Amino acid sequence: MSITPRPPIPSFLPESAPFSPEQRAWLNGLFAGLYGLTEGVTPLTAQEVAQLVPGVALATVEIDDGAPWHDPAMPIADRMKLAEGKPLPRRMMAAMAQQDCGQCGYNCKDYSAAIFAKTEERLNLCVPGGKETARMLKELFRELDTPAAAPAVEKAAPAKPTKPGYSRDNPVVATLAQRHRLNKDGSRKETWHIELDLEGSELAYEVGDSLGLYPVNDPGLADAVIAALGAPPDFPIGGRTLRETLSDGVSLSPAPDMLFQLISYLTGGDRRQKAKALASGQDPDGDAATLDVLEALQKFDGIRPDPEAFIEALDPLQPRVYSISSSPKMNAGRVSLTVDAVRYEINERTRLGVASTFLVGRIEPGQKVRVYVQKAQHFALPADPNKPIIMIGPGTGVAPFRAFLQERLAMQAPGPNWLYFGHQRSDYDFFYEDELKAMRKSGHLTRLTLAWSRDGDEKIYVQNRMRDDGRDLWAWLERGAHIYVCGDALRMAKDVERALIDVVAEHGKRSPEDAARYVAELKKNDRYQVDVY
Ligand SMILES: Cc1cc2nc3c(=O)[nH]c(=O)nc-3n(C[C@H](O)[C@H](O)[C@H](O)COP(=O)(O)OP(=O)(O)OC[C@H]3O[C@@H](n4cnc5c(N)ncnc54)[C@H](O)[C@@H]3O)c2cc1C
Ligand SMILES: NC(=O)c1ccc[n+]([C@@H]2O[C@H](COP(=O)([O-])OP(=O)(O)OC[C@H]3O[C@@H](n4cnc5c(N)ncnc54)[C@H](OP(=O)(O)O)[C@@H]3O)[C@@H](O)[C@H]2O)c1
Repeated sequence: MSITPRPPIPSFLPESAPFSPEQRAWLNGLFAGLYGLTEGVTPLTAQEVAQLVPGVALATVEIDDGAPWHDPAMPIADRMKLAEGKPLPRRMMAAMAQQDCGQCGYNCKDYSAAIFAKTEERLNLCVPGGKETARMLKELFRELDTPAAAPAVEKAAPAKPTKPGYSRDNPVVATLAQRHRLNKDGSRKETWHIELDLEGSELAYEVGDSLGLYPVNDPGLADAVIAALGAPPDFPIGGRTLRETLSDGVSLSPAPDMLFQLISYLTGGDRRQKAKALASGQDPDGDAATLDVLEALQKFDGIRPDPEAFIEALDPLQPRVYSISSSPKMNAGRVSLTVDAVRYEINERTRLGVASTFLVGRIEPGQKVRVYVQKAQHFALPADPNKPIIMIGPGTGVAPFRAFLQERLAMQAPGPNWLYFGHQRSDYDFFYEDELKAMRKSGHLTRLTLAWSRDGDEKIYVQNRMRDDGRDLWAWLERGAHIYVCGDALRMAKDVERALIDVVAEHGKRSPEDAARYVAELKKNDRYQVDVY
């Protein structure tokens, strides 16, 4: 009898990837198993991989084929390491925040393809990636004109839509109609329901879409910057005043490298060396993360840059996107958002999230805001209204699910609806409590499962509830349920995915790796969709 030798396991990891030979062999075995390329490998369990490579989401690995770093929870250094040796557009993509959030006007892959094709010159559009991404893209961009640049493997990005209201480059005007706070007094959070009137904009949206909007900076911050500059507020810059430009033209958040470069030209000695170091991403005084534009000016006090040169050294103010929390079928001509106000203290100054605090406090009903619809990619209700849906959305993650529930109500969709909502405290943070309870009472919301993290001594999160409900969750999945996750990308989304894999393993009587494969299949078939940030 002849024995056919087993083929060698192909290598899925670049030589430079940061693993020991043993880890490398295991991981290659695991990936080979996931791809179904070899027989007889003994792959790692999901838990083992999670321990070894905390940033790697198994199901994502399979779906993203060759881009195991396409994971928003993985730090940029690890992503760049894993992408080492790949063609330039792939490394450019790895430098991005991997959220495919669309804030830059593309998904990560198309943004990198556009930079590579030189149809996009702006290297600072990735809002969640911030300075780290911009810096890395700048470095990679320098490779473009070298002979070592990888051959073009990506298609050039598609032409941008020209219809007004559907891209960041072509916003339309909406009016703030009303807002109310969703937490009760005493909450540690400040989250608001924001309603915008779309009348006159001809803007149409679907549930699952997000709304992009252009904020205005805090006028107090703009004035403080003007004072630190020692420049007249009405200094003319390109037909506008300095104050106007600081209000809505430029970002006053993290001080960009260019500003430190400018400062280095205006200072000498030790201060110049520090500014140069900061401009190249170093942190000479251990305070780089705290330096917004104002703090940078205060750190190098007394510099008097020309206001025009100063403005040129800043980044443009970027739009922010928010999951839409209404259905157009229930709210004709209106769109609603669910916005958590970002505020935090550094060095005794309250820093304000520019867009969230604009929406919850610096614009009044009746005032205008520039908006556009960011079409959802793979985040939509099942086409078949009979399908069951399971929605997992703690905190502001509930936003698109309110829209889904409204839509299914308006359509009289017969499919069952199950919502997992969670937040800190039941008495204070139960967003849309009356609506959800009414839907539960009417039967439209088949199940409502709540997880309160700070009601008792023990933290209860949505994934704890999922594990408790494992048997029923599994039954819903086997009935063809579509499952959705929205909210925090860094921790919650990964923990929820892990819990789902555990539920499938336990109640579907599968090995952990088969359970991971089951969840990967759900993703592949658009039955597991995420909208995380
Ligand atoms: C697809 C998508 C959907 C989204 N949907 C929603 C939604 O429904 N509701 C919602 O509220 N948000 C949502 N967001 C997030 C939203 O887009 C903004 O990122 C968020 O509102 C913050 O923007 P900002 O302009 O207020 O804050 P920014 O001015 O951008 O400031 C935020 C930055 O401040 C820093 N920061 C924040 N907290 C701290 C802290 N405690 N200490 C130190 N630094 C800190 C971080 O660097 C953070 O990135 C969504 C994002 C995406 C991509
Ligand atoms: N880019 C930005 O600046 C920005 C702006 C707004 C929101 N966000 C982020 O977006 C996310 C949503 O914020 P949010 O205000 O909607 O609420 P959130 O901070 O996500 O909190 C919602 C609930 O989730 C719980 N939670 C914490 N860690 C969890 C985990 N690993 N798994 C499951 N649940 C977990 C929280 O509990 P505990 O709080 O008790 O731990 C809380 O009960 C957060 O990550 C937030 O930081 C970012």
